[in-house]
Amino acid sequence: MIPVATPVIDEEEIEEVVKVLRSGFIAQGPRVAEFEEKFASYTGTEYAVATSSGTTALHLALLAAGVGKGDEVITTPFSFAATANAALYVGAEPVFADIDPLTYNIDPEGIEELITPRTRAIIPVHLYGQPADMDPIMDIASEHDLMVIEDAAQAHGAEYRGRKVGSMGDAACFSFYPTKNITTGEGGIITTDNEEIAEMASVLRAHGETERYRHTYLGYNFRMTDIAAAIGIAQLAKLDEFNRRRAENAAYLTENLRDIDGLETPFVADGVGHVFHQYTLRVPDVRDELMEFLNGEGVGTGIHYPMPIYMQELYRRLGFKAECPVSERAASEVLSIPVHPALTSDDLEMITGTIRAFFER
Ligand SMILES: Cc1ncc(COP(=O)(O)O)c(C=O)c1O
Repeated sequence: MIPVATPVIDEEEIEEVVKVLRSGFIAQGPRVAEFEEKFASYTGTEYAVATSSGTTALHLALLAAGVGKGDEVITTPFSFAATANAALYVGAEPVFADIDPLTYNIDPEGIEELITPRTRAIIPVHLYGQPADMDPIMDIASEHDLMVIEDAAQAHGAEYRGRKVGSMGDAACFSFYPTKNITTGEGGIITTDNEEIAEMASVLRAHGETERYRHTYLGYNFRMTDIAAAIGIAQLAKLDEFNRRRAENAAYLTENLRDIDGLETPFVADGVGHVFHQYTLRVPDVRDELMEFLNGEGVGTGIHYPMPIYMQELYRRLGFKAECPVSERAASEVLSIPVHPALTSDDLEMITGTIRAFFER
């Protein structure tokens, strides 16, 4: 089976982890500090605060940005549930704006009409590795005095008009889950140029301690370990090469699938550097049949995501409603196929050949 995603781990990561284990310093320590410095420098931000996951990064970023009870947070319903759950964690209410049908990212045109006196923040997601349309989003935010927290969980290294994702909003959150463009096992990081957000996030990450055993705020244990950071440092050095291979694989897939009637290959907007966390086809009529066929032939697939977040059982029970027909349609038509850097040219040929065989039946 060709998996739809897989971590790429070499001897280097293994050696770095062994070094940490031998050092005796295995919780948050010098390797986390080094990883934060390198990640901030890569992203082009002043600060980075490493966390235990992308989800805890979002949770802390919202808290540190002052988003809380009674606030509304405008975001996309076409994302992993953690994006909206983060708003719920801090007592805020996610409000869902529909997506652009081509990029699957939040449509800036739909944001303004959802703004109320309670709106505090916008969380755009750079879905599948393609940056959201940040210029109009930042304009709306500055006009209405809103915070912008980028959910960059899927977009390490992606660029928007010459700027790296993670450097445009008030803060941004990345995930290092094993399927992501780089991994630390579990892990996340917040990037920001805002000193107060960085400081507050790092205090809240460790029990709200402003000094040892002085608990000034209700904090958490959302720390990253040095074991994870050692993996992250080795992975970060390879990120550009991983992304180059993802882009090359995506170009091959598009070249060999674009002429098939019955599917649409991914759209890449002008002025963006897409890092293809996922390579996602739109298959309007036979998505589920194609998925079953591919899985039967040994090609892994994924549906990102099978329903808009507001249709999840949790959100229905909480009474959430939204009108996002573009997201609902996408949920029934998208299908991700392998694009990860470990694919061989035989794998790529096999994937495109199998898809062609399905449509030629
Ligand atoms: C868009 C998005 N946001 C948030 C997360 C949460 O990250 P994590 O799994 O590291 O908690 C993920 C990934 O899982 C994601 O894809």
